[in-house]
Amino acid sequence: MFAPGFPEKKNRKEHTVTTLENLTEHLVLERSAQDLLFREARTANAFTDEPVTDEQVQAIYDLVKWAPTSFNQQPLRVKLIRSEGARARLVEHMWDNNKQKTASAPLVAVLAADDDFHENLPTQFPFFPEAKDAFFGDPTVRAESATLNTALQVAYFILGVRAAGLAAGPMSGFDAEKVAAEFFPGGKHRALVVVNIGRPGENAWWGRLPRLEYDEVFSTE
Ligand SMILES: Cc1cc2nc3c(=O)[nH]c(=O)nc-3n(C[C@H](O)[C@H](O)[C@H](O)COP(=O)(O)O)c2cc1C
Repeated sequence: MFAPGFPEKKNRKEHTVTTLENLTEHLVLERSAQDLLFREARTANAFTDEPVTDEQVQAIYDLVKWAPTSFNQQPLRVKLIRSEGARARLVEHMWDNNKQKTASAPLVAVLAADDDFHENLPTQFPFFPEAKDAFFGDPTVRAESATLNTALQVAYFILGVRAAGLAAGPMSGFDAEKVAAEFFPGGKHRALVVVNIGRPGENAWWGRLPRLEYDEVFSTE
C-alpha cells in the first residue's frame, strides 16, 4: 500500500537529545523508572522471537486502567492479533513501510475507539448516569470525545508496555477503515493505532530524533 514519501533509513541522521540533569531532582519517580518509561525507551522497529504472554498484557492493562479519561468513559477497545490468519489480514492493510515489522512482531494489538462508549456510563460514571444521553446523545460529540480519550489511553498503553520491560512500536500508517471492518465489525469502532509489542531485536531503532525545547512548547501568561 502507498506510504507517502517515506525516506530510507540510511537518510536518517543521528541527533543529540539531552536530559537537563539539574532538573531530574524535581521528579520523585526513581531514576531507573524514568529511564525505563521515557529516556531509554524507544519505538522498536524489530523484535526478538520471545513471545508476549496474555498475562503480560493483562498486567499492563491492570496498571494503565487507572489512568484518567473524561467522564471516566474509557473508550479504548483492543484486539490482540495472535493467529496467523488474523496477522495476514492485518498486514495486508498496513502501509508498506510498516508491513515487515507488523508481520514479525511477537504480538500485535489493534487499538480502537468505541463510539458507543456511552452505553457504559451508567456503570462507569454512576453518580451521574444521565450523562449518557445529556452529554453523549449526539454521535458527533461522542466520536470527538472517543477520539481524544482513546488517544490518551493509547499513550497510557504504550507506557504500560514499557513498564513491563517491553518495547512498543505504535503505528498509524494503515488503512483504518479496512482494519476496523476486519477486526471490529459492526461499524461502531474506529481503529486508531496498531502497536507492535515485544523485546527489541537487532537494529531495532534508528537514531534518536530531536525533541522540542521547553521554550518552544510552553509559554506563560
Ligand atoms: C501514534 C503514533 C503513530 C506512529 N505511526 C508510525 C508509523 O506508521 N510507522 C512508523 O514507522 N512509525 C510510526 N510511529 C513511530 C514514531 O515515528 C516514533 O515513535 C517517534 O519518532 C519517536 O521515536 P523514539 O521513540 O524512537 O524516540 C508512530 C508513533 C506514534 C506514537
